[in-house]
Amino acid sequence: MIEIENVSLSYRDVPILRGINLCLPKGGITALVGPNGAGKSSLLSLIARLQPLQTGRITIDGLPVDTAPSRQLAQRLAILRQDGAVASRLTVRELVNFGRFPHHQGRPGNDDLRLAEAALMQFELQALSDRFVDTLSGGQRQRAMVAMTFCQGTDYMLLDEPLNNLDMFHARQLMRSLRAIADERQRTAIIVLHDINQAAAHADRIVAMRDGGIIADGTPEAVLTEDNLEAIFGYRMQITQLAGKPLVLHHL
Ligand SMILES: Nc1ncnc2c1ncn2[C@@H]1O[C@H](COP(=O)(O)OP(=O)(O)OP(=O)(O)O)[C@@H](O)[C@H]1O
Ligand SMILES: [Mg+2]
Repeated sequence: MIEIENVSLSYRDVPILRGINLCLPKGGITALVGPNGAGKSSLLSLIARLQPLQTGRITIDGLPVDTAPSRQLAQRLAILRQDGAVASRLTVRELVNFGRFPHHQGRPGNDDLRLAEAALMQFELQALSDRFVDTLSGGQRQRAMVAMTFCQGTDYMLLDEPLNNLDMFHARQLMRSLRAIADERQRTAIIVLHDINQAAAHADRIVAMRDGGIIADGTPEAVLTEDNLEAIFGYRMQITQLAGKPLVLHHL
């Protein structure tokens, strides 16, 4: 479980996160949604200690994030950043392998190599595995980055907009892969999504943020109401149902 207690963040006195209290249970998929600038990436970056905690407390299965040894943290939690820059003169296989670094510290064993091959297969990257990352399309690179994050083998994966640059086929494939990983391997995915219908279709839970606070938290059915969506995104949209899931007609 990831426990976030009373976490606030500000940059030069401008409040970005306002007293967040949130409990993310182990297992399943949580989608984090909300408008641009709501604080989603800031919250993930604090959970993953990409920036120091200013106030409050965050623990991962009881381990306090601010004082945990880096290696211990990296064995529990992996993050795909929204702006993930990548060393380009690596092949896809080398990049995915790099996800194992917290386990092997630069000297991969057979198990690490085997897990990297499994990650290439899981995200259907075998055909691209010998390509240099800087020769890939945006969507191909994004999939390789997700595979690297998965390959780290942590209980918790934080993915900041993993569907960026993906076409409809690959976006659906990726969400289905993450669903399978959550169901079959009991891994926990916390995913920032702008596509509310992907969240509705694949997440167990939706946490909605706006202006540095959490304004809704629950199952897709509970969160995706017309009133909630208006409070989150600032305009009225229709909601229908398809295959037992809410379908938000946000584009009309
Ligand atoms: N280093 C920084 N210095 C000052 N302000 C920042 C900094 N990083 C983020 N912010 C501000 O914090 C707020 C939240 O940013 P954040 O990146 O967390 O939003 P987000 O919900 O991830 O948005 P998006 O959907 O656009 O990715 C924004 O108003 C942003 O301008
Ligand atoms: Mg963001």
